[in-house]
Amino acid sequence: MSRRSFLLGTSAALAGAAAVPGVVHASSSRTARLRPGGSSWLADAILYELYPQSFADTDGDGIGDLAGVLERLDYLDWLGVDTVWMNPIFPSPLTDAGYDISDYTGVHPRYGTADDVVAVVEAARRRGIRILFDLVAGHSSDQHPWFLRSLEDETDHRYIWASPEQLPGDGSLPEEFVASPGPRPGAFYMNYYETQPAINYGYARSNPDEPWRQPVDAEGPRRNREAMREIMDHWLSMGISGFRCDMAATLVKDDPGWVETGKLWGEFRSWLETHHPGAVMVSEWGDPATSVPAGFHGDFYLPVNGPGDGAPWRSLWRDDPYFSASGTGTASTFVRAWSEATDTIGGAGVTMMPIANHDSATRLNDGVRAAEEFPAAWTFLLTWPFVPTLYYGEEIGMRAVPGLPDVEGSQGRQNNRTPMQWDDGPNAGFSDAPADKLYLPIDPDPARPTVAAQIGDPDSLLHLVRRLIRLRKHHPELGVGSDVRVLTDGYPLTYVRGDRFLVTVNPSRDAVTVDVPDERIEHAHRVEGRGVRIGGRGLAVDGFGYAILDLGR
Ligand code: NOJ
Repeated sequence: MSRRSFLLGTSAALAGAAAVPGVVHASSSRTARLRPGGSSWLADAILYELYPQSFADTDGDGIGDLAGVLERLDYLDWLGVDTVWMNPIFPSPLTDAGYDISDYTGVHPRYGTADDVVAVVEAARRRGIRILFDLVAGHSSDQHPWFLRSLEDETDHRYIWASPEQLPGDGSLPEEFVASPGPRPGAFYMNYYETQPAINYGYARSNPDEPWRQPVDAEGPRRNREAMREIMDHWLSMGISGFRCDMAATLVKDDPGWVETGKLWGEFRSWLETHHPGAVMVSEWGDPATSVPAGFHGDFYLPVNGPGDGAPWRSLWRDDPYFSASGTGTASTFVRAWSEATDTIGGAGVTMMPIANHDSATRLNDGVRAAEEFPAAWTFLLTWPFVPTLYYGEEIGMRAVPGLPDVEGSQGRQNNRTPMQWDDGPNAGFSDAPADKLYLPIDPDPARPTVAAQIGDPDSLLHLVRRLIRLRKHHPELGVGSDVRVLTDGYPLTYVRGDRFLVTVNPSRDAVTVDVPDERIEHAHRVEGRGVRIGGRGLAVDGFGYAILDLGR
């Protein structure tokens, strides 16, 4: 039983059809089906990624903190998000903004204490909001006691070490290896930056040329699996609801088809089901068709990995994207990839889509797209059957700010990590610190959007996002568990959800028309939208127009 089966290539009756390649139809089967997400609450989630450094600072040090998150929970509740993923808040030398952890079960003092975590989790729970933390399993900081110990002890295999005898005689180092700072001789394998030694989960296969390779069930890899379970147990016992799993595809090295990596995550998933039922693991993988069968409840589309190395995400948001006034993109790359992935994973998990994240170095407001382009994108994000993932500040149209200094190893990713813009007060209401002490400067644009201004304006983007979230929550037809039937995937992208709601979005600046082969269109009722008119069996959609129409049941 397939949850959604797609027939590709049938031409729809639509005006201007010649300009619309790859028209896709889906069955609107109403048969009973497995609940997506393996029965998890995740399928109904509206996820909000919050960059703790930049969200809200209460102690005046210029850096966001847990007390700031606590203070702003009412805002998140008002907005309608019900799941918050926080980037790492753990002790760290901050060479990669906290993705270089030196204590997995501690809290970096700049964010607060373990008591603050409990306070946030409990206050969030009272509002119906779940909290996810990052699980950075693939590497630690080079300042982590595990790594410091391995520097002292040549029999320690918590990390991947090559001894001097195993290294090339000419003094060169194999790719990804870093010379030991001593006293241990040799070199260690790094995962991302040199300050992030890879934790050893073994190799999927041996190679006589690389004698340092250990099997996945060697003592070091086994101890590391146990350590990760202890870390998960620690935070889940404090009330968090799961983890976003960093670089999830990379744990076992040289692993064609991710067979051993999948077994590893599958083992974590079984452990979770037994010890913390209800907790979720979502992956930074970028290929749901691989990661969900490996054990994840959900996976994000990313600028990299998976079919076409990030093509589904990039074709929407970057690189001549579909969401662009020029109208030269296509949604078909995404629609095809998504439908294939969804057919593969069936009811076992969900796909997840961010417009931006802390690595994407873009926002919807990228300095090229104009504000009038945003509503169509949001309408799509909140009506497609993936888990919509909001990156903080996107809901008010914050800008990716050019020309900022590198901070904590951001290396070009700082442009969308700037402080949340709450109001017109000093530092946009983010912090009382002197401006030069802020984590990153506030967007200097005097017309920068703020939460306060947009709350006061019912026509604002923020109110639109809030209404769309409410619509989605109110109508299961708009959620992950309902069918999507795509009528056109050019301009406008037009689809029917749950055989009831017709959604059309036209991110291009040019007016377009579309025929709708459904007699209910003549009497459809608009529940949201702008610039869309019904005429007979079709729609006229203005440039940047968007609408959700209720066709009736
Ligand atoms: C992925 C994280 O999202 C990114 O911010 C980090 O730099 C790398 N993993 C390394 O941990």
